[in-house]
Amino acid sequence: MGKKLTFVDLFAGIGGFHLALKSLDMQCVFACEIDEYARKTYLANFKDKFLRKENLFPKDVWEFNIKKIPKFDILCAGFPCQPFSQAGRKRGFQDKTSGNLFFAIENIIKQKKPAVALLENVSFLKNHDKGRTFKKILRSLKKLNYTFDYKILRASEFGLPQHRPRIYMVCFNKNKIKKKFHKLSFDFPKKQKLKTKMSDILGGFCSIDLMGKKERKIGFTLRVGGRRSGIKDRRNWDRYIVDKKIVELKPEKGLLLMGLNKNFKLPVSDNQALKLLGNSVPVNVVKEIAKSIKIHLKKYSN
Ligand SMILES: C[S@@+](CC[C@H](N)C(=O)[O-])C[C@H]1O[C@@H](n2cnc3c(N)ncnc32)[C@H](O)[C@@H]1O
Repeated sequence: MGKKLTFVDLFAGIGGFHLALKSLDMQCVFACEIDEYARKTYLANFKDKFLRKENLFPKDVWEFNIKKIPKFDILCAGFPCQPFSQAGRKRGFQDKTSGNLFFAIENIIKQKKPAVALLENVSFLKNHDKGRTFKKILRSLKKLNYTFDYKILRASEFGLPQHRPRIYMVCFNKNKIKKKFHKLSFDFPKKQKLKTKMSDILGGFCSIDLMGKKERKIGFTLRVGGRRSGIKDRRNWDRYIVDKKIVELKPEKGLLLMGLNKNFKLPVSDNQALKLLGNSVPVNVVKEIAKSIKIHLKKYSN
């Protein structure tokens, strides 16, 4: 391990992992992302040298030579979650286009043997296919000689007014950890107080109904589908009641709900921007997990 921890950003999206780890002085050396709008956004916001080389920012996770990835310490991957989410088709590993993407991660871990893998997915991953999918992931990492700790954390437990429950998996390469610490479980970060409410984000009193009495402190989970379902629909996530009027969630506000800075560039249509945000990770949560990873590595590495 060098002085500065390095990481790769697989299924990079708009770079939620990148922002979080970079803020802790870690360096990204490789990323991959297939969606053209996500790539455009990534390139507008990150200026790392590796992004100028096509082979270090490839599109399809199946279509690059793993050997060409530079050495790195942490593998980050928020792998596509539609096949695992309750809203999605629930086909999991059977899904030809995305369910099997975990196996691409497995291949990279197998060949590159990073010190840590940090994975994220929808919380339903744990129950998908009666728990079999999750068990497969767990077994695969254990077989590769990694520890496996996981926890469901909400964005709202880390200062952001958005529910967004997600499962985070943290796996340490046992070959890089002193033997006596192999059984030690990973310390997931402690919950924090909610610092910002929906009313602060939306700039008016955000209430649960048009009577405007009871405050809605925490907002809905941003998602990819289901936009414009209507305020009364149970799938609604982009309409709020502010000062007794219905307002639409705009990307500028969505940014803040994901823990991104207001200066973060979204060089795509509002529709695309909200989709990208709905797919991303809450930066505050990932940053706290990465802080713990750094401490864990410092204390227990060989
Ligand atoms: C859940 S999102 C991850 C978002 C990311 N963590 C972020 O912070 O924005 C999954 C991403 O995987 C990308 N993806 C899907 N199939 C892919 C493939 N075969 N190769 C590379 N990326 C892929 C999608 O375009 C999507 O942006």
